[in-house]
Amino acid sequence: MLYNIFFGKVTLSIIKPDAVKNRYVLHIIRKIINEKFKIIELKIIKISKKLASKFYKKHSDKYYFNELTNFMSSGFIIPMILKKNNAVKDFRKLIGNTNPNIAKKGTIRSLYATSIEENAIHGSDSNNNAIKECIFFFPTENFLKK
Ligand code: CMP
Repeated sequence: MLYNIFFGKVTLSIIKPDAVKNRYVLHIIRKIINEKFKIIELKIIKISKKLASKFYKKHSDKYYFNELTNFMSSGFIIPMILKKNNAVKDFRKLIGNTNPNIAKKGTIRSLYATSIEENAIHGSDSNNNAIKECIFFFPTENFLKK
């Protein structure tokens, strides 16, 4: 099964509306490429609050859910599928802690995020979720052939 070939080798990233508005997109993409991730899918889209709620449904019982989904539907976002061995783990290291005040120096969030709510970038948190999230934004599964 093609999914097995990709398990552990892809992650979904989203450049969030704050980073797009603040013109950090090229800086962020340069850092991703420098760390040897291959961008195999990328699109620039705006999503509805309903779609943002579907994507973040595992956070639906959290106090920040409403604010999170308002934010994610407030402007352009850039979902990307990134390919590399140990993609999920390596990418989470590259982006740093959810809270930019705690994120290690040099990580994407330490450089480009302003707060825990507006934290510039998303990265999948497990290999299972990575596959699900890639398919969520790129449902044609064309990426599985790349
Ligand atoms: P992300 O990695 O996209 O996954 C869930 C998001 O919820 C997270 O980044 C944060 O941007 C957002 N969020 C907002 N408030 C909090 C909070 N208090 N703790 C964790 N995540 C939060």
